[in-house]
Amino acid sequence: MRVRADLIVENANELVTVACGPRTGGFMRELGIIENGSVASFGDRIVAVGPSAEVRAKVDLTPDAQVIDATGKVVLPGFVDPHTHLVFAGSREHEFIQRAEGRSYMDILASGGGILSTVRATRATPASELVDLALRRLDIMLCHGTTTVEVKSGYGLSPDEELKCLRVIRELSERHPMDIAATFLGAHAVPPEYRGDPDGYVLCIIEEMIPRVASERLAEFCDVFCEDGVFSIEQSRRILEAGKAAGLAPRLHADEIAPMGGAELAAEVGAVSADHLLCASPGGMRRMAETEVVATLLPATSFTLMLGRYADARAFIDAGCPVALATDFNPGTSPTLSMQFVMNLAALGMRLHPAEVICACTINAAHALRRGDEVGSLEVGKIADIVIADVDTHLKLPYQLGTNFVDKVVKRGQLVVSGGRRIW
Ligand code: NIG
Ligand code: FE
Repeated sequence: MRVRADLIVENANELVTVACGPRTGGFMRELGIIENGSVASFGDRIVAVGPSAEVRAKVDLTPDAQVIDATGKVVLPGFVDPHTHLVFAGSREHEFIQRAEGRSYMDILASGGGILSTVRATRATPASELVDLALRRLDIMLCHGTTTVEVKSGYGLSPDEELKCLRVIRELSERHPMDIAATFLGAHAVPPEYRGDPDGYVLCIIEEMIPRVASERLAEFCDVFCEDGVFSIEQSRRILEAGKAAGLAPRLHADEIAPMGGAELAAEVGAVSADHLLCASPGGMRRMAETEVVATLLPATSFTLMLGRYADARAFIDAGCPVALATDFNPGTSPTLSMQFVMNLAALGMRLHPAEVICACTINAAHALRRGDEVGSLEVGKIADIVIADVDTHLKLPYQLGTNFVDKVVKRGQLVVSGGRRIW
């Protein structure tokens, strides 16, 4: 049967499909690569994928169809970045210097800096300015190949300010081509108003914030920074259960700096994803694998915090967990918008195979956002989010350091980036 197409990307040296998922174990190394491959779309959906001659024989191009020649290039699914703190004002380069001089991240937070300094700057900034700042960040992400992103609140930390940040996220979705998944992270830190009374703040989250977020449908997920000195396992459980009861799917910052049993909690509450995980226990990894919690690892954060080590990606893969990668973009611990930089660190710091890295940034990352049926692979019926990379083999994607390999990006069937620049 022939199909109509209004866009075709053809003759790719390698068409990396990454079909099916979430991928675990040895399956993470299989990318479903088609040599001399093409992908065609109609409207926002993929209608044909395969060897170039077969796709050409199958599609009827509309008279105004866009034909993109990918000779010599790698074509792959748009990257999915499943963990970012994109909405904030201000900047924290001074902390970067303090850490280089030996102060720890948690120490800076305990003395009112860190997250709390970004909270002060964000509260003092009107929503319209937060939107402008975030739109520019989304442009940079798209030019680096990211086509779906998760965005958390978490720099408001009061009912009105958290809602302000979530409404900013909603406006971003309406104004930018990027697909955005919104997460409520009221439990990012204890705000100054509740200093010394963290349980009072937990109650405010449960009784005031979650009901408002849910009734305005401002978020899909609820997240907690479950960490020694921030929110305990017990407090995190209460918040995540309350979120779940209100229709917000749980995800969490788990076992980043101290071993807390965060991985076990993620399994217990049925989290979609547990993130960071540098200190996860072997038992916690097993429980996550059994309950299909995605392990979302954030190597740019370990790098920026100069921890000298990364989450044990290999142990998660061996335990049978689907592993995803994300930027964790934020002003304190990960000032990068680039999934390509994350790919480099995952390959070099975590010793992942290039195929595992690509799988973790596409289909597994889509599953970390419950969007595995919509994005993350080049398959008929999925959203046409396509990256055309100026390299001849996928092996060069995590290998090439410090430059942007993205030539073109197709977002929902529209060419939005060309020559590495936005054109919409
Ligand atoms: O994921 N760890 C908590 N949240 C962020 C950091 C946010 C900040 O420092 O502003 C993270 O690393
Ligand atoms: Fe984070």
